Amino acid sequence: MAEVVIVPDVAAGGALAADAIEALVRDRPDAVLGLATGSTPLAIWRALATRGLDLRRVRGFALDEYVGLPDGDPRSYRATIDAEVVAVLGMDPALVRVPGEGLAGAALAGAGAAYEAAIAEAGGVDLQVLGIGRTGHIGFNEPGSSLASRTRVKTLTAVTRRDNARFFDGDVDAVPLHCVTQGLGTILDARRLVLLAFGEAKAAALAAAVEGPVTASMPASVIQLHPDVLVIADEAAAGRLRFADYYREAWASRPEWAS
Ligand code: F6R
Repeated sequence: MAEVVIVPDVAAGGALAADAIEALVRDRPDAVLGLATGSTPLAIWRALATRGLDLRRVRGFALDEYVGLPDGDPRSYRATIDAEVVAVLGMDPALVRVPGEGLAGAALAGAGAAYEAAIAEAGGVDLQVLGIGRTGHIGFNEPGSSLASRTRVKTLTAVTRRDNARFFDGDVDAVPLHCVTQGLGTILDARRLVLLAFGEAKAAALAAAVEGPVTASMPASVIQLHPDVLVIADEAAAGRLRFADYYREAWASRPEWAS
C-alpha cells in the first residue's frame, strides 16, 4: 500500500514532497526527476527553491505535452516547465525532455518510442511527481488507458479539457484535443512515485485511486501496483479516504529510523 500523508495545507504538502526530492538530489546530484505540470506541483517547486540545492545536473522528463500548440506557446508544457520549474530551480533546460517535442503530424507516431528510449538511456526515472485529474488520470492517461501503456498519443476527455481551460483564458475549444503522455507502464517503471492531491475536487478520484479496485477505468489506481509510493493530500482531498485515521496514526507514529 502507498504511504498516505494527510497535510494541513498545500504549502506543507509541497514541503514534504520537496523533502523527498532534496534527499534524493543530495545523494545523487544528477538524479532523474519525472515532472508533472498543472497547479498541484507548484508548491513543491516553491519549497524546493528555498533549500539551497544545486540542481544544475538534475535531469528531467515531463509526463506529457499537448499536441498542436506552436513551438514556444506559453501554454505548452515545455514553456510551463521552463518557466515554473527550470527557471525557478536553476536547472539546465537542455537536460529536461518533453514528449513529442518538435514533432507534428505523422511523425508523432514515433514520439513514444523515442521518449521511452531517452528515459532508458538516462537510467530510468528516480522519482516521478504526479498530480491527479478529476477523471482519475495521471499523466494524461484518461480512463480506459491500459495499465501497461507506454508513451503515446492520447485524446483528452471533455472533463479534463474543461478543467484545463483555465490555462487557455477559459476557452475550452482552445484546449488541444490530443496530447502525448507517458503511459501507465512507463510511470510504474519510475523507482519512486510521489502523488499529490489538493482540494475537494480531487477527493473522489483520490479515494478511488488509493482504496478502490485497480482498474483502467480509474487510471491512477495503477499506483497500487508500485512498491514505493508516497501520496500527499490536504484535508479536503483526503476527505473521502476510508482509512484516513489509520494513515494519520501511521504517519504520527512512524519510527525515526523509517523517516
Ligand atoms: C500534468 C499532468 C496531469 C495533472 C492533473 C492535475 O502534467 O500530468 O495529470 O497532474 O491534470 O492537474 P492540476 O494539478 O492542475 O489539478
